[in-house]
Amino acid sequence: MDQNPSSRLSSPPPYHESVMVEQVVDLFRPVKSGTIVDTTFGGGGHTRALLTALPDIRVLALDRDPDAAAQVPDDPRLDFVAANFADLDQVLTTFISEGHRHDREHLGAGSVAGVLFDLGISSRQVDEPSRGFSYRRQGPLDMRMDPTHGPTAADIINDRPVDELVRILRDYGEERMARRIAEAIVRHRPITDTAELTAVIAGAVPAAARRRRHPARKAFQAIRIAVNAELDALGQGLDAALDWVRPGGRVVVIAYHSLEDRIVKQRFAAGTAGCNCPPDLPVCTCGRAAEVRLLARKGLRPTEDEIARNPRSRSALLRAAEKVSS
Ligand SMILES: C[S@@+](CC[C@H](N)C(=O)[O-])C[C@H]1O[C@@H](n2cnc3c(N)ncnc32)[C@H](O)[C@@H]1O
Repeated sequence: MDQNPSSRLSSPPPYHESVMVEQVVDLFRPVKSGTIVDTTFGGGGHTRALLTALPDIRVLALDRDPDAAAQVPDDPRLDFVAANFADLDQVLTTFISEGHRHDREHLGAGSVAGVLFDLGISSRQVDEPSRGFSYRRQGPLDMRMDPTHGPTAADIINDRPVDELVRILRDYGEERMARRIAEAIVRHRPITDTAELTAVIAGAVPAAARRRRHPARKAFQAIRIAVNAELDALGQGLDAALDWVRPGGRVVVIAYHSLEDRIVKQRFAAGTAGCNCPPDLPVCTCGRAAEVRLLARKGLRPTEDEIARNPRSRSALLRAAEKVSS
């Protein structure tokens, strides 16, 4: 029994501890004014830090999880839209055509000063059993970031052919035991919740593999990526961000695994083709028509202090690019 009644009344854990906040703010600092689009608002930690550090900017915040709306602070410089960043182009076009507070002057072509992507899911989503994201918590096989539509994890686990499950586990989880796991899933169908799925996966892999990392870690990542079509969304969102951001504006992406990072790295590399200026030059001087220049060639990592404080930041890799031509 709880001996201390006040502990039951204490505030809930924070929504999400934002990752690499100082680096994100520093990367956007030179833009000074205009609109920064925070495409992954979550608990709003990055948005709050940006609005505090850069008083003359506006933020247009997106999240495909409608629950994030409850975290939006009351600030006249901030608007929130529950949307998938895969639809960023349409969202920005709508904001202009509806003559929103981010009106044409602020959000016309060339007014987007920056776009931030902090990929994946928030701690709040992982830690909430009813969302079904965690192999450590019993919950429904859901895993949708937007619980209002789209296939659930149950639809994928219980309905897809074995070869498709193998592909998902291999391509989105880089799971070496994809076929063993997929065959075990098919044998145990219907699987009813996350605890049962975790047990089926654990039973499918050899004991030696079970000792290293949690045996369901990669499979859960893979199924979540498939449920939310995350990699397609990233490609579409990045293209739109690079189209909309004005020259001098910045696109900053924090990825948490190599599949995401590969897409970011390749898209930025394609945009730099032509320019071969050193990354510390303030403007491109070589005259080759590149779309962007990289702001940190190898990407940035969280500090040791941040990782000690927030172990979930461990895998973060931040890449940033500056638009150099329209
Ligand atoms: C790592 S959290 C972001 C945390 C946030 N930067 C903060 O400081 O609190 C990722 C958020 O992005 C959202 N998200 C992921 N993919 C998305 C997409 N394609 N479109 C819109 N939101 C997305 C998730 O729902 C989640 O809330």
